[in-house]
Amino acid sequence: MNAKEIIDRYNGAVIGSYGRLDLALESGSGARGVDADGKTFIDFGSGIGTNSLGYADEEWADAVSAQAHRMQHTSNYYYNATAAAFAEKLTQMTGTDKLFFGNSGAEANECAIKIARKRSFDKYGDPARSTIITLVNSFHGRTVTTLSATGQEHFHQYFFPFTPGFRYVEANNTQALREAVDGTVCAIMFEFIQGEGGVNVLESGFVDEIFALADRYDLATISDEVQTGVGRTAKLLAAEHFGVKPDIVTLAKGLGGGLPIGVCLTRGEYADVLTPGTHGSTFGGNPVVCAGGLVVLKRLSDPAFMEELSRKADYFRGSLAALPRVKSVSGLGLMLGAELEGIAAADLLRAAFEKGLLVLTAKSKLRCLPPLTITYEQIDAGMAILREILEKC
Ligand SMILES: Cc1ncc(COP(=O)(O)O)c(C=O)c1O
Repeated sequence: MNAKEIIDRYNGAVIGSYGRLDLALESGSGARGVDADGKTFIDFGSGIGTNSLGYADEEWADAVSAQAHRMQHTSNYYYNATAAAFAEKLTQMTGTDKLFFGNSGAEANECAIKIARKRSFDKYGDPARSTIITLVNSFHGRTVTTLSATGQEHFHQYFFPFTPGFRYVEANNTQALREAVDGTVCAIMFEFIQGEGGVNVLESGFVDEIFALADRYDLATISDEVQTGVGRTAKLLAAEHFGVKPDIVTLAKGLGGGLPIGVCLTRGEYADVLTPGTHGSTFGGNPVVCAGGLVVLKRLSDPAFMEELSRKADYFRGSLAALPRVKSVSGLGLMLGAELEGIAAADLLRAAFEKGLLVLTAKSKLRCLPPLTITYEQIDAGMAILREILEKC
């Protein structure tokens, strides 16, 4: 089937809830993808930060297929060794105590919200102490409750009624944050870098204020690291850049190396809030996904890999900042946003696609989330395409 046939068949049978490019990828290796017509693309988006090791990493593919040959699924009535090994390694690496297994970022955040609210109720016995402060311009997912947590008005349409109990505070406005805390608040939830919101890094003073208020009023701190986690910022967790330890951390996207997983990591008393029957997910802890995830964790626990990742991230950032029409670069590690002048990010995305480079946008910015394994040669090749477009406009 050629790309056109694939696209037509897909659109004929799949609900049109996405704006898509006319691209049908079929295979790939590292940061290079190949479409159904044989055209090659350099990928600066990695499936929105999800193919953390790039396309079809050999070790990852071997581990996934070996597990599929042994056993693909057990229900959560039973245990399996691969999920046990993955959970043990991830909690050790992140310095957390226990995790809950789900399948997506939204599901991980749903779990975080449930844990924060139940912990508050268990301790204070007051259903009204259930408000969660989130930030304006945040993004936490597409379920009704995570849409409600998302601090962007345009997501609060059509699907009424939304889940009550969220209060939105402007990012980096410490005064507004202080004023938002009252006796009904049980948690503060935030992204260290707002990804969908425009690759905006929180100021460290604001992060410190979140943790000071949480300490003073016994609030849960929930960091949504669905996009920032798993080495994306050149540290395992973005929290490491800020020197803080949230009570609850959610991860998804890059964690399975391209297979669906979302986890809610907890510390201390938060680890024992959910009891049998209070939460669940059929596919949670799927051994095939965990086998892939273990390879991702193995790579991220190699100091040489992390040092190289830091160097590559600096190189990527420097190359992006040096492009014409790039006014400024935001973000950390390999989660970068470029503010542009003289061209709309959506137009740049399209022009890059025509020339064989896949990029993302976030609000008015160009957004890059390349695989953590991208090579210098691939960075140079992608930047050359961007330069060629930007020099002409
Ligand atoms: C910070 C953040 N949280 C949650 C989500 C939702 O993740 P998922 O699409 O896996 O449900 C996203 C997705 O972009 C995200 O960036």
